[in-house]
Amino acid sequence: MNRYATISGWGMYVPDRIMTNHELSLMVDTSDDWIRSRTGIQQRHIVDAKEATSDLATRAGWAALHSADIGPEELDLVIVATCSPDYHLPATACLVQDRLGASRAGAFDVNAACSGFVYALSMANSAIVSGAANKALVIGAEAITRWIDWTQRDICVLFGDGAGAVVLEATDRPSGLLSYVLGSDGSGGEMLMMRNGGSRLPPKGNLPLDGGLNMNGKEVYRFATRIMGKAAREAISRAGLTSADIDLFIPHQANLRIIESAAKSLDVPMSKVFVNVQKYGNTSAASIPIAICEAANEGYLQPGQNVCLIGFGAGLTWAAATLRWMPLRTHPSQSVPKRVVRWSRAPLARVKSLIHRAERRVDGLEDEIDRREWLRERLRRDELPHDATPMTNGHGQGSSNGHAHSASDQPTTATPSGRPDSVTPPNGTDKAN
Ligand code: UT7
Repeated sequence: MNRYATISGWGMYVPDRIMTNHELSLMVDTSDDWIRSRTGIQQRHIVDAKEATSDLATRAGWAALHSADIGPEELDLVIVATCSPDYHLPATACLVQDRLGASRAGAFDVNAACSGFVYALSMANSAIVSGAANKALVIGAEAITRWIDWTQRDICVLFGDGAGAVVLEATDRPSGLLSYVLGSDGSGGEMLMMRNGGSRLPPKGNLPLDGGLNMNGKEVYRFATRIMGKAAREAISRAGLTSADIDLFIPHQANLRIIESAAKSLDVPMSKVFVNVQKYGNTSAASIPIAICEAANEGYLQPGQNVCLIGFGAGLTWAAATLRWMPLRTHPSQSVPKRVVRWSRAPLARVKSLIHRAERRVDGLEDEIDRREWLRERLRRDELPHDATPMTNGHGQGSSNGHAHSASDQPTTATPSGRPDSVTPPNGTDKAN
């Protein structure tokens, strides 16, 4: 029996705050007319001071789980595609996994910029088709405006924040991802860059302005118009289809002119291309999943239809995929008990997370008690030098000879060779390392 990974649920979230072109024209030397005519963008959503990528991703994740009508504990995998993570570490996907209470799921981020969602989708698909996972949540989420220099008119008018998510589930019905193409050309990395804050140019204090997003718009434009048609054609032919078999194209929403040029190169009418860049601007990795959600919710996607996703972005990267739209369930129940169950999941996940944190503290206390008792016992039996009294922490308190201990001053015993060897407590953990 063949295994397929079909999209069984979808959801999106964008911040409440809308910034119009007019508002931008009061901040930099631009105009609604310039932005509309060059990009098609009319407005974008922007995170507020307290929001981060994981907040948007978690909300989109809940919406996708509700639409798939499954609980978070059923997930085997949570993947977040983002280039604006909450932190360098931990991965945003881990924060989302915790917030959702997806306690059985592995979680990691993918950074392939605006192509990231299709990359992540292909990874989740492989995990499901191979049998390693049954259910995966794939999210594209960005709070990319945090990296925007609001004085740079050629950049700040383009981007917006948001998140979109899909649930992929194993099925034996031929559906879901039929083919995909992933590509990169790092020689063009400098065309679209967030230069500072990594190991090459480590952060110093607050992010300096030149640590923001830098782009050679013309070059990226040229690259995008060249690669989108090529990548889509390749993915479509790998699925054994032709452009005429595709019912809906969902391209990365960066610029209406780029989308129109890709449609032309594929020789498809714009009526077959989903566009919502006017409402959200370029939301990077979130743009394709947000477009999938809107296309599905607005009736553009019908069961059995073939869809082609096309992404491109920093890296440079590109990714295209074909999929057969075949949700497993038509309409998730909206009954009152179901809604109560759904409503209760987020607070329950929060409680679960607090319990896990408390368990870790109790485990830590227990380990510390065991360690102290073991040291006392060894001292009582006179097996350790007498200055190796139990330490409460790594700050040297508890030293009986008046010498301060550092974290590395753990109790030692002499080996036959005379080389000090660290003492291994009964739980097997070498505390000196
Ligand atoms: O996810 C991938 C991310 N990036 C992209 O997809 C971006 C790809 N590139 C583009 O979409 C386009 O290159 C832009 C929209 C960024 C720019 O459009 P363009 O038609 O390539 O404009 P341009 O760079 O050739 O600039 C034309 C003029 C310049 O003035 P001069 O030198 O001709 O006097 C710019 O300084 O427009 C000026 N300009 C603006 N004017 C008003 C640049 N930005 C603005 C602005 N408002 N916001």
